[in-house]
Amino acid sequence: MKLNVNGQVRQFEAEEDTPLLWVLREQLGLTGTKYGCGIAQCGACTVHIDGEATRSCVRPVSTVTEQMKIVTIEGLSPDGSHPVQKAWAALDVPQCGFCQSGMIMAATALLKDKPKPTDADIDAAMTNICRCGTYNRVRKAIHVVARGGDPTSANLAIEHREGSKA
Ligand code: FES
Ligand code: FES
Repeated sequence: MKLNVNGQVRQFEAEEDTPLLWVLREQLGLTGTKYGCGIAQCGACTVHIDGEATRSCVRPVSTVTEQMKIVTIEGLSPDGSHPVQKAWAALDVPQCGFCQSGMIMAATALLKDKPKPTDADIDAAMTNICRCGTYNRVRKAIHVVARGGDPTSANLAIEHREGSKA
């Protein structure tokens, strides 16, 4: 089989019903995408397929064609410079970090569809589960990116402090 992953055509062997997540992690070595529940509930395995946030743990690899563009957390930017990644880092969103690649992939898909999401939009799109309870900071980071706020540590730190007082 062949898939287009992070802009490269990758070849591998797998059973047709193998979840895309296992191909990404085991065959292609892209371990940034995590396994949490395996039943499309937690979002830890979220990747983009043609720009759409997709839970790869329940997506049989045979349903993804070579023409489809898969992007994993490793392909979002070469150096963590995507605005969402910068906002995440500047606001210290992650705790243990396990859910965060899925969170970031869901957030980038949301912001592409709705550049100025409301809280309701965020709640509807961000159904990922975080056992560390980072939901408030996830929401804040999405709003910062949506505002086009310069995602520098200094600016975000100020916003973070102001938000903390509210
Ligand atoms: S591992 Fe895919 S949704 Fe939880
Ligand atoms: S940061 Fe730990 S599960 Fe979300």
